[in-house]
Amino acid sequence: MQRWQAFDQAFGSQPHLVCYAVKTNSNLAVLQTLAKLGAGFDIVSGGELARVLRAGGDPGKVVFSGVGKTESEMRFALHMGIKCFNIESEAELYRLEAIAQELATPAAISIRVNPDVDPKTHAYISTGLKENKFGVSFEQALPLYRYAFASEHLVVHGIDCHIGSQLLSLAPLEEAAKRVIDFQAKLTNEGIGLHHIDMGGGLGIDYQPQDNAPTPEAYVKALCAAINQPEIEILIEPGRSIIGNNGILVTKVEYLKNNQDKQFMIVDAAMNDLIRPALYDAWQDIVEVTQIPEAKTNNVDVVGPVCETGDFLGKTRNLAAQPGDYLAILSAGAYGFVMSSNYNTRPRAAEIMVDGADKHYCVRARETLDDLMRGETLITD
Ligand code: LLP
Repeated sequence: MQRWQAFDQAFGSQPHLVCYAVKTNSNLAVLQTLAKLGAGFDIVSGGELARVLRAGGDPGKVVFSGVGKTESEMRFALHMGIKCFNIESEAELYRLEAIAQELATPAAISIRVNPDVDPKTHAYISTGLKENKFGVSFEQALPLYRYAFASEHLVVHGIDCHIGSQLLSLAPLEEAAKRVIDFQAKLTNEGIGLHHIDMGGGLGIDYQPQDNAPTPEAYVKALCAAINQPEIEILIEPGRSIIGNNGILVTKVEYLKNNQDKQFMIVDAAMNDLIRPALYDAWQDIVEVTQIPEAKTNNVDVVGPVCETGDFLGKTRNLAAQPGDYLAILSAGAYGFVMSSNYNTRPRAAEIMVDGADKHYCVRARETLDDLMRGETLITD
């Protein structure tokens, strides 16, 4: 978890909280490791809050994002005393106010603004453009802040934004920070002071060397410089950049298959285990677990057993592996297991946490078929 510490330390004397985005990899042992370091957490559901609590995380360091918070999720989070609700719409603000009144517990809020900056990343993971469903425009945010400021049941705490994921350039983030700061000045003029500025997550990682992702230090430096308020608390919500390159997916080669012009390496992992290649056309490196120098390679598509043409893990790769050998799909620590499913009635993978060279723990057992069918019933009449 050196990457979390790198973010944390880079802030120096600036008040800050590094809130790990739980959605990225929510295994309890991962959350526990971060909680022990003093991490904050960015959650998007009541389920994620339950995980944070079970892992020993401090609810007072939790921020709650997401456009569709239900009443029961709001009650749960308010009852547990989370740090802040990141509000994404007018309707959500009113709903939270009513719940805060009902529980007689004022709710700390931040409005998620959509700074309309192009993060230059894949369309499905870009969130800060005005056509995206996230946040509200600055024009819409102003009356919401006025309303919240005047409400007995809401406490204005901060402002937040998140412009997208897998960002490989700092410029869009700096631009977003600049727009947020300009807006903050308008709030200050109206006597609405903010305790924190939350710039979301988004820092990318190297899936391949040429990605050349900025370091956590460079990212934090750029944010602090753009915000330029040494007293204010800065929150960030990194996910992928903390955990992405800490995980691999290990899979066994089942068959090699030749279809005239194309060669396939059929492995026992599939799109249900790692959906990023199928969903975003994402490229993740694939290497042999045991590498034999100068072994003859084949140019193959690495595919799984799922009955979909989109079921591939990598295309046109040069690999020497033979049936029975193992492959590692790299950079699978973020948005890997958490996005997996049981499609084709495939039990999901076990998760192993490795600590240094000599310690490892099975932190999630492989699923059984009974696990998959639990809760289903036959009709008996
Ligand atoms: N905060 C908010 C409000 C978010 O929506 C996200 C990610 C994060 C923080 C964390 O972003 P990160 O630091 O990981 O970039 N499944 C996609 C990525 C979806 C990201 C969704 N939001 C993928 O596999 O590329």
